[in-house]
This record gives sequence, C-alpha cells and structure tokens, in this order.
Amino acid sequence: MQNNVLILDFGSQYTQLIARRVRELNIYCEIHPFNKVPENIENFKAVILSGSPFSVRAENAPHPDLSKIKRHKPLLGVCYGAQYLAHFNGGSVEPSNIREYGRANLSEILENETLFNGFEKDSQVWMSHSDTIAKLPENGIRLASTKDVANAAYRIDGEETYAIQFHPEVYHTTFGKQLLENFLVNIAKVEQTWTPAAFVETTVSEIKAKVGNDKVVLGLSGGVDSTVAAVLLHKAIGKNLYCIFVNNGLLRKDEFQNVLDQYEHMGLNVKGVDASERFLEALKGITDPELKRKAIGRVFIEVFDDEAHLVKDVHWLAQGTIYPDVIESVSVTGGPSATIKSHHNVGGLPDFMKLKIVEPLRMIFKDEVRRVGKEMGIDDELLGRHPFPGPGLGIRILGDVTAEKVRVLQEVDAIFVNGLKKWNLYDKVWQAGAMLLPVDSVGVMGDERTYEKVVALRAVESTDGMTADWVDLPYKFLQETSNHIINRVKGVNRVVYDISSKPPATIEWE
Ligand code: XMP
Repeated sequence: MQNNVLILDFGSQYTQLIARRVRELNIYCEIHPFNKVPENIENFKAVILSGSPFSVRAENAPHPDLSKIKRHKPLLGVCYGAQYLAHFNGGSVEPSNIREYGRANLSEILENETLFNGFEKDSQVWMSHSDTIAKLPENGIRLASTKDVANAAYRIDGEETYAIQFHPEVYHTTFGKQLLENFLVNIAKVEQTWTPAAFVETTVSEIKAKVGNDKVVLGLSGGVDSTVAAVLLHKAIGKNLYCIFVNNGLLRKDEFQNVLDQYEHMGLNVKGVDASERFLEALKGITDPELKRKAIGRVFIEVFDDEAHLVKDVHWLAQGTIYPDVIESVSVTGGPSATIKSHHNVGGLPDFMKLKIVEPLRMIFKDEVRRVGKEMGIDDELLGRHPFPGPGLGIRILGDVTAEKVRVLQEVDAIFVNGLKKWNLYDKVWQAGAMLLPVDSVGVMGDERTYEKVVALRAVESTDGMTADWVDLPYKFLQETSNHIINRVKGVNRVVYDISSKPPATIEWE
C-alpha cells in the first residue's frame, strides 16, 4: 500500500492512540516495533516515532536504525522520539528539574511554521516526561516553548524532520489532531484516501484473490467483529461462506433466535446449532471461574469442529480478529523483545484450526469496524450492541451453573437491558448486565419469610474495557427496574447496584 504511514513503537502506552488519530484523518498507518523497521520502507510516505517509558540516557533504551528514514522521509518524533532525534544528532537530553506531567500551554510559537498551522497561542498540550531537551540537535530550529520547557518543539533545517515534546495523540492536546494533519497532509503530502468505502472495496478484492472458489467457515457470535467479518466475506464469496452460530445456552434471553433471524435476513449462509444441553452438562458442578471458562471453551471447540466437518472440502477458517490483538507491540517489562498476543494454543489443534486463516479485520480498530459495518448497511442496532463475554451468563452466575439459574438470570438481565433501551440509556452505557449471586437473602412476601436470591446490576462507561467506571443511572430508573425484577422474577427478592470502578474491581464478577 503506497499511501501509508509508519509508526515506530518504543513501548509508549499511547502508541495505539497515535494510530487511531492518524486513521481518523482517513490516512492508513501501521505500527511496527522500533527494532523491526519494515524492509519495504519505500512503501511508507511518512514516519512517526512514538513515546517510550525509557530515558534516552538509559543503557537499555531503544535504539532504532533510522538510516533509511531520517533525511529520506518526512519524520515526526513524539516525546521519546523527539529526545532521541536530539540526543543522537548533536543535541543533549538532561534530567529535568521540573517534571512535566499533564497539562501545559504553548506560550511561544514561531510564526509561519506549517506544523503549527491553525494553533491558537497558549493552547493546551499534554506532557508526560521527566527528561528535557537541553540542547537542540545540529541545525535544529526551535518552533515552540511552554513556561517550563524551552524546546517543546523543533525542526531540523534542510530536512523534513520535526519533533515535539508533547503528545498530539491525546485528547487533552487541543490542537493535537490538527498538528498530525499539518505534518501528514501539508508537510508529507499524504493523501486522505483511507475511508470505510475504500477499505470495503480493497478488502473484498483481496479476499477474492486469496480465497478464490474455496469454501470458508466462520463462527458467528452475535458480536460486532464476527458479524462485520462475515458480511465482508459474504460480499466477496457469497454462498461459499459457511457461518456457524452456536447457542451455548448462556446467551441473553431470546438472543439465539433473534440474532439468527437477523443473520438470515442479511442473506448470510448461516447454520444455528443449539448445543445448550451439551454446555450445561459440561458445566455441572463446576464453581471455579477459570474452570468454567475452560469447559465452555472446550465444548465450543468440539461443537464447532463437528459442524465444520459437515461442510465438505473446506480450506479456510475466517476470524473476526481486530488490530489491537495483532499489533506487535514493544514489551516494556520484557526489554526490547517483541511480544505477539496469540489467540490459540499450539499443538493438539482440532481439525478446523488446521485450516488456512483469513482475517479481514486484522488491520483495523474497533471504531473502524463499526464504520465499515455501517458502510455495508449493517443495522445500527447490531453495530451498537454492548460487548458480551464469550462464556456469557456462565461467568455472571457466581458458583455452579444450572438451567434454572440461567433462566432466572436471563429474565433479570432482559428487564434491565430492555429498561435501559426504554429510558434511552442503552447507548450511553458501554456495557451492562446482571450477576446472580450465590447467596440466599431473607425477605418477606405477604406474611411469609422467604429465602431467595440476590442479583447485582452492573453498568459501566469505558472505551476499551481496560478501565471502567460505574454509570450514575437515574434513581427513578433503578427504582423501576428493581420493582420489575422483584415482582416478576420468581426466586429473586433483592436487587443491588454495583458502584465499583475498574481498577480495582473488574467489569465481570468472575
Ligand atoms: P473484566 O471483567 O476483565 O472484563 O473487567 C473486561 C471485558 O472483557 C469481557 N470478558 C470476557 N470476554 N471471554 C470474553 O470473550 C471472557 O472470558 C471474558 N471475561 C471478561 C467483559 O465482558 C468486558 O467486556
């Protein structure tokens, strides 16, 4: 791909954010670890160096080979990247007397510099560093300063090399996206051609070229990623895509039939397999959350393997893997070695896993998956669904799982989620669900004492599930929901609302 930006990763927590901001500018980019500069460097039109938890003065600090990049390509160093470009090109980086973390203001900006087009004086930038650039590199020209940092931005005269101490990728840098646009569009002349429509077009033809007339199997989950992957493949190969949607008996109330109907309505070649009893049988008596996950995962693989065998002459397995799962990021704790997250165990793979893999979403982020889905006409309701864990209600029923507990929790969950929709709260919440607790609580109904179950409701705000906060739902809504649950769901006499953030609590209770 010719219109491509390279982001060299030095292990900063913000590297993925740089990529997302670049993609928001409709520009394609890829993240590569600093110690694995891609061979085909000519394919990249500009390069960005990320930040890093290291100091350039540290012995084990990342040392990229920039010989094919600096002076040859438009180059932007961010934070560590800026310090690196100074330190090893005749400048110096020193420990700072004042550590700059958080907000700062660009009080001085050199006039008529393209990098700062559109910036307002004193605009906010976000800093996160303890070293400072004491001396600019050879031919360095200072472009901007803050009250505490003289060399907040510079360029190298005679080259298209730019460097900034602050982070343009974070939301708190007011004109951060503008700066990236100035660099990529106005300086590096990268074209803004990366759009959902362009992605669909190229991906469909890539799939056609790769898969040809072969058959492909894909496991649908009802989630956004597998659905978008399926629709893309369907566009490319039509009925040669065989989708399998397994009911593990731990889905939301009526979910299996509703989602299956939607898939069929979309024209997908899908087979619904109700394996609820097989899953429940495997879960019998298991209380440990990790063992439950393992049992559910194992049965899923067995069921999927059986089904995949029914499709004759299949050569490919499609998956809805997305970019954050693939990015080969620099491991900060394990030194400069790169780590790759892997979804699969090696050795002893079931037959279907020996198929060749096709992953049409492996280079895009979650928000892009949604945009691509919208572009292909997938229903907003399907694209806007809350995340739901693979093991489903199995990890929301604390303790052992039985058919009766699943029924109770499905009823409670449906009242809660439908209530959120009715109150127009569903789209304001990132994820919501109910947990069935393994305690009996005392209550009174009429003149009788009862001992019945407690359920906890959980609704969180988040962007990626890594951190989350509980949502301040209206009292009236909670009151109405609690009444509905207790009046309608036999076996529950108490409802509580979870007000813990992650960390330290997790989103799921198990
Ligand atoms: P936690 O509970 O770790 O959840 O804060 C973060 C996100 O991950 C989902 N989750 C899972 N998803 N298999 C999945 O596919 C699992 O075993 C699993 N455990 C948690 C959770 O729903 C939330 O979105």
